[in-house]
Amino acid sequence: MSSTSRASFGSKFGIIMAAAGSAVGLGNIWRFPIETGQNGGAAFILIYIIAIALLGVPLMVAEFFIGRHAHTNAAHAYKKLSSHPFWSNIGFIGVLGGSLILCYYVVVAGWVLKYMFLSLDGTLSTLFTPGDASGYESLFGNFVSSTWSPLVFMVLFVLMCHFAIAAGVRKGIEKLSKIFMPALFVILVVLVGFSLFAPGAQEGLSFLFHPDFSKLTTSSVLSAIAQAFYSLSLCMGCLCTYASYFGKDVNIIKSAVSISVIDTLVAIMAGLIIFPAVFSAGISPQSGPSLAFIALPGAFQQAFGAVPAVAYIVSVLFYALLVLAALTSAISLYEVPTAYIHETWHIRRRYAALVVTAVCLMLGTVCSLSMGVLGDLHIFGKSVFDFLDYFCTTIMMPLSGVFIAIFLGWVVKRDIFMDDVTNGCTLRTTPAAVVHWLLRWVAPVLLFAAFLGVLGVI
Ligand code: PFF
Repeated sequence: MSSTSRASFGSKFGIIMAAAGSAVGLGNIWRFPIETGQNGGAAFILIYIIAIALLGVPLMVAEFFIGRHAHTNAAHAYKKLSSHPFWSNIGFIGVLGGSLILCYYVVVAGWVLKYMFLSLDGTLSTLFTPGDASGYESLFGNFVSSTWSPLVFMVLFVLMCHFAIAAGVRKGIEKLSKIFMPALFVILVVLVGFSLFAPGAQEGLSFLFHPDFSKLTTSSVLSAIAQAFYSLSLCMGCLCTYASYFGKDVNIIKSAVSISVIDTLVAIMAGLIIFPAVFSAGISPQSGPSLAFIALPGAFQQAFGAVPAVAYIVSVLFYALLVLAALTSAISLYEVPTAYIHETWHIRRRYAALVVTAVCLMLGTVCSLSMGVLGDLHIFGKSVFDFLDYFCTTIMMPLSGVFIAIFLGWVVKRDIFMDDVTNGCTLRTTPAAVVHWLLRWVAPVLLFAAFLGVLGVI
């Protein structure tokens, strides 16, 4: 396939929206606020911002550089910069990791879709009993452990991604991101507005923002790094693949900084929505699915119950927000194996997307059923769903991060990096030099230490 016939994004705004769409996802909305609250509030936000500055932005620049320079999918891109048998193949970790994350991400996205319908048809409001979350608990427990209902919603979600991807880079990914991301920001702002007026909002805000440095431990630093990786969609092939559609005039460093700022702002705004509602309902904050599917439906009813129409609107908007966030992230994950198959097997994009859809549906089905009938199927003592999540985010992401940092810092010639990132020396060289220095000296050491820390070695 000649490089001139390759797809590309049509505008810089489209690039930022697509890459920010990949970054902004379920991770921002249900993980970041809780991690923040539990790890010392503003003190954690500070560590998180340092992790973004020292690791997140440099690694995003590295992936953007590799993708745009190579102009090909995430697995083959590394081969264009090195012929070494090891370094030329590290991109495969991203393609494999991105594909595996997709298979369980679509399961959770299916739940979110189902909950959007449950809030639309009023089920979530009718289940509300003040001070008692058992109705929501059994609704969620029965739903995820059942066989067909979660599968139906997962299939619906996968089909939405499939058609977006099959439509192409410009007409699918870019067009949808340019509509979905602004819609997501509008919903966020409306929800923050409602939430700040909930009774007890003050307590929620202090849980989120009160800086408590005594709560900062080694494990909070590890959590901040892990959160930065997951939230920015780093090292799993998405950013590298998207960058292969960038034009030569894109300012890579500026784009990476803008995307990181947008992602962090969205995460903080999610906290501004969730905590005031949770605290005004008198619920203790937890993380993960139990927050989004058990605590929040009741919290919204409790916090805004004085005006039922507001409770209804907030609930519908919140799940619509989750669906949009999940969709743009899943589309970026989908694109990684699609581009790889399309370019390796020389088959049309549409057919490559079909292969990805088929594999995703098969593995996704196993993940979904691992909450119910396949609950006894364990890999290293974990359910299939938990194992995939652990393997991808705890092993593959940081490992891929260490390799990419070493590759850029030590293997690829600095001149190639500097020339490309400064768009042929037309941009200032200092930011590129700083990023290169961070990739060479800081990122490998920090990441290797974090990796050993997560494995419990240090
Ligand atoms: N960044 C996404 C989120 O915050 O939900 C999740 C994600 C997407 C992780 C793409 C990794 C990835 F490659």
